[in-house]
Amino acid sequence: MSQSLVIAVDGPAASGKGTIASRLAAHFGLPYLDTGLLYRAVGMGVLAQGGDLDDEAVAAAVAGALDPSGLSDDASLTTGEAGEAASRVASHPAVRAALLKLQRDFAAQAGGAVLDGRDIGTVIVPDAPAKLFVTASAEVRAERRWKQLTARGIEISYEDMLADIRKRDARDAGRDSAPMVQADDAILLDTTDMGIEAAFDAARRIVETARAKHGL
Ligand code: C5P
Repeated sequence: MSQSLVIAVDGPAASGKGTIASRLAAHFGLPYLDTGLLYRAVGMGVLAQGGDLDDEAVAAAVAGALDPSGLSDDASLTTGEAGEAASRVASHPAVRAALLKLQRDFAAQAGGAVLDGRDIGTVIVPDAPAKLFVTASAEVRAERRWKQLTARGIEISYEDMLADIRKRDARDAGRDSAPMVQADDAILLDTTDMGIEAAFDAARRIVETARAKHGL
């Protein structure tokens, strides 16, 4: 089977990976899946049922019945509460298993695809020809997220934001099932001192190099 241009973009919360991934998708004319939305929808689905986020069976049932269409238009999934709920249900192996096929099918589309998340390059598409691990210091990520939220009228202190980011990093990197980790063959892109244009440019060049290397 000939390879297609699958771009795996992993990294911690507020690293800029979502913006970079969606811009790469537009640039290369590929479909884009924000896999964080799947976990966010599962977390909010459990809460909507009055369920317990630590109950693996309940969360797996919600994941198994998930309709992925329309998630990117659902503003309730962009909240801090949804991110926190996502990170809790994401630690359950049965939830990850229930969402695996959907993500692999998306990646297998003819012509390729861009997916962003935590385990795209390690678990979902380990043979992706282009892999990026996008990161930035926790302080810079907290500041970016704090600015976004305050611009939307959501009140939260920078200190609380930083504590949230650190807690989420520790949970995502420390879980047993598909922990957030840079794949051996992923290229590290540290955006701490970069604006979005410079970060996108660096990402585009990484993909161009991978493309040439794989003859895509
Ligand atoms: O990327 P985003 O902040 O939307 O992800 C929310 C949470 O979903 C993450 O903190 C992580 O726990 C989980 N997630 C994951 N694997 C992915 C994408 C997201 O575990 N591929």
